[in-house]
Amino acid sequence: MRRQVKGNVSWVGYMDWELETFHGDDYSILNGSSQNAYLIEEEKTVLIDTVWTPHRFDFVENLKQEIDLKKIDLIVANHGECDHSGSLTALMEEIPDTPIYCTENAVKSLEGQYGKRGWNFKTVKSGDSIEIGNGKKLIFLEMRMLHWPDSMATYMTGDNILFSNDAFGQHYATDELFNDKADQCLLYKEAIKYFTNILNPFAMVLKKKLEEIEALGLTFDIIAPSHGAIWREDPMQIVRKYAEWADAYKEDQVTVVYDTMWEGTAKLAHRIAEEIKNQSPDTVVKVFNAAKADKNEIMTEVFRSRAVAVGSPTVSNSILSGIAGWLEFLKQLKFRNKRAAAFGCYGWSGESVRILKERLKDAGFNVIEEEVRSLWNPGEEDFKEIPALVKALLEE
Ligand code: FEO
Repeated sequence: MRRQVKGNVSWVGYMDWELETFHGDDYSILNGSSQNAYLIEEEKTVLIDTVWTPHRFDFVENLKQEIDLKKIDLIVANHGECDHSGSLTALMEEIPDTPIYCTENAVKSLEGQYGKRGWNFKTVKSGDSIEIGNGKKLIFLEMRMLHWPDSMATYMTGDNILFSNDAFGQHYATDELFNDKADQCLLYKEAIKYFTNILNPFAMVLKKKLEEIEALGLTFDIIAPSHGAIWREDPMQIVRKYAEWADAYKEDQVTVVYDTMWEGTAKLAHRIAEEIKNQSPDTVVKVFNAAKADKNEIMTEVFRSRAVAVGSPTVSNSILSGIAGWLEFLKQLKFRNKRAAAFGCYGWSGESVRILKERLKDAGFNVIEEEVRSLWNPGEEDFKEIPALVKALLEE
């Protein structure tokens, strides 16, 4: 169960191959995940984080196979969310007086979730450190809003390991454990999906935090996040990627997202996709039905895009619920520096395109004036409107 990370540091987490969704059902898990906990055995023995609540008894039993729990001198709780703290209740039954190092906000979240149990909290701030023997120490670094107010990272000197918690993670199960052994396509696909769907709302905070970390002048031999592969080979590659992603990221891609009742709006979506390819052959084009496709996967494609075209027919003086829910999620993710267009069919009142434009603007997109509104089934007259919409959409 224990897997060596470096020197006297081991992975003692949970490889969650069966996980299908995360944050309730709000995040799709397509390639498993892991909750990474770490055991440091220097002169002092330190446990960094635990695993999700359903696995708490297995976690404690497995840990007992590795070590006498009474030898644990301290626990670091980098973040209070239950996928990392959920085993504390079972663990603290065994070692109730063991100090738990965490931020002040983490005390609030841990007591909020598990009640006041008299745990021995030691609150820390950025720059605080503790000696763990053999000339090594742990330095704490608050990561407020990355992605909770209680989040922090812990840096271990000597071995130069950053236990980054959620930052730099991926929902990706790999028994190979390290980035250099993982499937590179899946690793990056899951890393960018994680960034898009969990961290992008805090991209501006992240940008500043990355600068702050750089200014510390620390060396990182390993970046050990709390989910997915551990960055061992060129660990700064993911830091560089985060700097790119946090900076209003876009590729030469346009994503068309629609919902449809009787295929009219679907027809417009595909015609728009064809026209994008026609006007800009090198631009990557992706098309999704928001009511059917995985919303987190769509969002990842939107994140990579420089523009989106969004379509819905008019229904009950509004838009279809599949696209309405999707637009709410789109707003939460706070994408920046992207253009957007709206299109849709109608039979009677025809408000959908106006509503789509309002919602896209509200979500922070630069919405173009050009639109395609098709009365009943789209025909040649409607298709004639598409080139102008696409031309405006592709402008930088
Ligand atoms: Fe992986 Fe914010 O918990």
